[in-house]
Amino acid sequence: MNKFSKDFIFGTATSSYQIEGAFKEDGRSLSIWDVFSRTPGKVLNMDHGDIACDHYHLYEKDIEILKTLGVDSYRFSIAWPRIYPEQGQYNEAGMNFYKKLIFLLNENGIKPAVTLYHWDLPMWAHEQGGWTNRESVDWFMEYAEKCFEELDEHVDMWITHNEPWCAGFLGYHQGIHAPGHTNMEEALKTVHHILLSHGEAVSLLKEKFVSATPIGITLNLSPMYPASNSANDLLAANNADGYSNRWFLDPVLKGSYPVDMMNLFSKYVHSYDFIYEGDLEKISVDCDFFGINFYSRGYVEFNSASDFLFKNAFSNYPKTGMGWDISPVEFKELIRRLRKEYTNLPIFITENGAAFDDHVSESNTVHDPDRQEYVEQHIQAVAELNEEGMDIAGYYLWSLLDNFEWAFGYEKRFGITYVDFETQERILKDSGYRYAEIIRNRSI
Ligand code: FCB
Repeated sequence: MNKFSKDFIFGTATSSYQIEGAFKEDGRSLSIWDVFSRTPGKVLNMDHGDIACDHYHLYEKDIEILKTLGVDSYRFSIAWPRIYPEQGQYNEAGMNFYKKLIFLLNENGIKPAVTLYHWDLPMWAHEQGGWTNRESVDWFMEYAEKCFEELDEHVDMWITHNEPWCAGFLGYHQGIHAPGHTNMEEALKTVHHILLSHGEAVSLLKEKFVSATPIGITLNLSPMYPASNSANDLLAANNADGYSNRWFLDPVLKGSYPVDMMNLFSKYVHSYDFIYEGDLEKISVDCDFFGINFYSRGYVEFNSASDFLFKNAFSNYPKTGMGWDISPVEFKELIRRLRKEYTNLPIFITENGAAFDDHVSESNTVHDPDRQEYVEQHIQAVAELNEEGMDIAGYYLWSLLDNFEWAFGYEKRFGITYVDFETQERILKDSGYRYAEIIRNRSI
């Protein structure tokens, strides 16, 4: 049996657009996801977040679920278009929602872990080029400053950005996420400005607010394995690692972009002059922790026809409902690599979880043994890593609720709570009961 220390943080995670709904309420303006999800062919079934889990109205009920689970902390994000529906126009009504949420969490002894940006960029910002425009850093800073001013006293942890890889590469290179562009140069500018705004926000919190609240960033990392040891496949794995991991890890933790990838990307990028002198020092500012979202390993092979010479290879691993390899062993290897090559900061697993098909039984229960096993395997891995001295400070399960899973709409369910999107009924799944038990025992 593996034990967790009493200050280890167990939590669950969500994000604003995926659960809140109330897309027009109390002055909220539209985000790129409101518009993207209304564009034919972008999101499965043309699902959207207009209502989602209606968490904006049902947050008290959702906090009851958190209490049943017994979590130490709850990670959620703030919707920027609620706080600044128009450029320079602060909206107090939008902020009040987060105050109510945070106060109720605090009243119940649940630590709020708040993400500033989980992809719902206001349309007014997008109309001026969004993150490809360097001014986005100033827009973000105005928003971040207001959040710090109003909420910092009551918050236990700030996460500047969630997964710049998705916002940048899925949104502007692959076109799978909002705003659906397919332009590598835009993607690299987006990532650069997002990372710069991260660095600036960290400095602001520490210097202007002299705050002791821990602050950091969350990257999604996927360790890349070659399908064989051929020179070609090794090159493919190197490039996949650069595209998915090093392009983000290196600037944030080492203050540089990987030169092999700069070379490779240069077929699409005419100039790197969007990287100003001094930017990388700002990006690699000291943080208090390092956040990782882990779902799966990657398995790749050489492909001369792909942009960066790699493509996914056939893997015989067991898979989640997303078709992702279940890979707790590779998760451990990833953490060991980070410790060796990148950082000594405390690590938080800010997301981990799995989608599987769920069915409500006649007795109104949801048996989800596959999700339960996935979660157990990864929590077990965390416990073992900590026995090796890897200093993982917390684990947030994605997700508290079934929710709007981006391009997959409502079809993919990641929740440990089942949501009936017609009636808004919530049912704690077996995996949720098991998670509560793990938290209660602080052991697995
Ligand atoms: C991550 C996102 C999160 C959720 C999970 C499944 O990439 O941060 O919003 O969609 O994947």
